Amino acid sequence: MSDPNALFLRALRKEKLNTPPIWYMRQAGRYMPEYRKVRKKFKNFLDMCKNPDVCCELALQPIDAFQLDAAILFSDILTIPDAFGLGVRFEENIGPVFQNPIESKIDIENLTIFDPEKLNYVYKAVSNIKSSLPDNIPLIGFCGSPWTLAAYSIEGKSSKDFKKTVNFIKSNEDETHFFLSRLTDACFLYLRKQVEAGADVIQIFDSWANILNADDLKNFSIKYIESLINALKKDSVTCKTPIILFSRDPKCNSESLIRTNADCISLYWSMHDFDLTFANGKVAVQGNLDPKILLESKEIIKNETYKVLDNFNQFPGYIFNLGHGLTPDINPNKVKYLTDIVREY
Ligand code: CP3
Repeated sequence: MSDPNALFLRALRKEKLNTPPIWYMRQAGRYMPEYRKVRKKFKNFLDMCKNPDVCCELALQPIDAFQLDAAILFSDILTIPDAFGLGVRFEENIGPVFQNPIESKIDIENLTIFDPEKLNYVYKAVSNIKSSLPDNIPLIGFCGSPWTLAAYSIEGKSSKDFKKTVNFIKSNEDETHFFLSRLTDACFLYLRKQVEAGADVIQIFDSWANILNADDLKNFSIKYIESLINALKKDSVTCKTPIILFSRDPKCNSESLIRTNADCISLYWSMHDFDLTFANGKVAVQGNLDPKILLESKEIIKNETYKVLDNFNQFPGYIFNLGHGLTPDINPNKVKYLTDIVREY
C-alpha cells in the first residue's frame, strides 16, 4: 500500500495543494538514453514488455532522473489484443502491426475467451515495480479503452483517420458492440489483477476518441468506459482505486466525461474549453501542456507552463502533466527543467 498522504493521491482526492504532483505520459521511453540502452537488447518491443525485471527497471528510470510524484507501469495497451490471439508486433518506424486483425464478423464470433492469466507477466511487473518504489510514490496501472483497443484490432495498425475501422463499425454494428463488450470485460479483469498486484491508481487511455463523431463517441466509446468504471467501482478489490480517464480530443462536453464516474479527467493539450467551474469538486484534473512546447527554448517553455499553471491554480485536485505523451525527439534536460519550474512556481 502507498502512503495515503502521497501528493498524487491527495490531488486525486481533490485536495487543493500549493504544489501540484507531477508525472508525464510516456515518461519512460525513447527520449531517455537509459531507455534506449535497454531497448537495444530486444528485437521486439513486446518481448521487452514480457520481461518483468526489465519493465521494473524502465518504470523507475524517470523516477530516478526527475523525482516524479507517480510511476506508471511499463507495458503497453496492446497486451489485451495480443492475449486475444490477434498477434501484435511493433515494427520500427511503423508502430503496431496485427498479424490477425478483425476483418469480418466471423473473426469476432471466433474470438477466443480472454484469459487474464495470459498477462501474468504484466501483474508480475506491477508487483516488482511496486516493491521497488518508496511508499510516497504511487504506481499507476493502465489499459486502453475498449474503443481504442477495438480500433487498433480492426484497423490492424496505426492510422491517421482509421478509415477501415470507421467503415467496419458502420456495416457491422451489432458485432462491433459484441466485440466492445468482450473488450470491456477483459479490461475489467486485467485492471483488477493489476490492482491486486499493487497498482494504486488506474488510467484508461481513450487515445482514438478523436476519430468518432459525437453520436458514435457516445455509443461506441463512452458507454463502454462508463460500464468499465461502474464494474470497477462495484468490485471489492478495485472500488477504492482512483481512476483517471484520458480521452484524446473527444467531441463531447465536459459533463459527458465527468458522468463516466472517473475520479480524474486527463486533458488533451488542445482541450482549452473544459468547464473547470462545472468540474470543481466533482473530479480532479490532469494536464495539459502541449508536449511540442518541450522542443522550444527554456523561455517559451516557462511562459507556456506558467499559462497552464495559472489556469489550474485555484482548482482543487490538480495534477501537472502533458496533454499527451513525451515524444522521442524531446531532450531529457528539458523535462528536468520543466519539472523544476513547476515545483518553483
Ligand atoms: O512511461 C510510460 O508511459 C510507458 C508505458 C506505456 C507505453 N505505452 C510504452 C511504449 C504506456 C502507458 C503506453 C500506452 C499506449 N500505447 C497508448 C496510450 C497513450 C497514448 O499515447 O495515447 C497507445 C495508443 C499505445 C500504442 C502504441 N505503443 C503505439 C501506437 C506505439 C508505437 C508508436 C510509438 O509511440 O512509439 C507503441 C510503442 C511503445 N509503447 C513504446 C513505448 C515506450 C515505444 C516502443 C519502442 O521503444 O520501440
